[in-house]
Amino acid sequence: MPAFSASAPGKIILFGEHAVVYGQPGIAVPVTQVQAKAIVQADIDAPPGRIRIQAPEIGFDSNLDELSPLHPFRAAIDLLFKHFGIESSPAFRLQIKSTIPIAAGLGSGAAVTVAILRGISAFLGHPLADETVSSLAFEIEKLYHGTPSGIDNTVVTYKRPVYFIRNKEIETLKIHTPFQLIIADTGIAYPTSVTVGDVRKLWEETPDQITPIFSAIGSLAKAAKYAIEHGKINQLGPLMNENHDLLRSLKVSSIELEKLVKAALDAGASGAKLSGGGRGGNMIALVDAHSIAHVENALVTAGAVNTIQTTIDNPV
Ligand code: PMV
Repeated sequence: MPAFSASAPGKIILFGEHAVVYGQPGIAVPVTQVQAKAIVQADIDAPPGRIRIQAPEIGFDSNLDELSPLHPFRAAIDLLFKHFGIESSPAFRLQIKSTIPIAAGLGSGAAVTVAILRGISAFLGHPLADETVSSLAFEIEKLYHGTPSGIDNTVVTYKRPVYFIRNKEIETLKIHTPFQLIIADTGIAYPTSVTVGDVRKLWEETPDQITPIFSAIGSLAKAAKYAIEHGKINQLGPLMNENHDLLRSLKVSSIELEKLVKAALDAGASGAKLSGGGRGGNMIALVDAHSIAHVENALVTAGAVNTIQTTIDNPV
């Protein structure tokens, strides 16, 4: 019996995190250097309906029915079966592998869910359309994030740069002139559900102060869209810096993120900001051919546990 495998990339948010939850635009791009993969294979020795899930990298090995219905792996499979109206499936083994760091703002949860949905639906002979994959993955994102905007499942499913507004049609962002980023990991895993919850508290306590910050972040994302679509890359750095300052005022930065942002700017990056939920996870720095090596060294010296160089371009 052949194995069915499906993969999904990581992602980073360039502009608009947190404000995007409140209806402001955000910009996110796939990061194909890191991937989640699901491999599905029929288990002819097991009784019908037996589903064994293994994720060796995190020491995970369990039968589906031993997991809580709220476990994201189980929830994704239950939701898929419900979508197909399947009550019992042939026995299979699902292997999950991922090179995307967990809780680091690189969309690991969404990528694993998308890979699972695609792998199992292919195994069952009913491959899903992107739109369905994204909307099912959004339901599972709620388990990871509480009140997600939907930006992660969208960019990870469609594998292209997106200009995203909650509950609006997805807009693909056309990259006029490719540009280079370094993604640097603080090494601190910080759950997005916590920062999203804390920002919500802050907004509920002081809406008059926080609502204008969301709007200002939205305006930066709009300006960045224009710059990206017209090749005005020199405008992006200052926009990233302003976005980072606003995220700091939402209290989602941290000493470690500040250290990396400063190191990147001091080493010649033209812009730098935290990316994703914040307080830990990754930051991004805008670089060019002259500054890239210097900025990367500076980030490692300042404590980055991992760096990724990526070029933001249209999908091939
Ligand atoms: O931590 P990440 O990369 O999964 O980013 C989440 C982005 C937020 O805007 C903070 C939340 C959301 O659902 O949009």
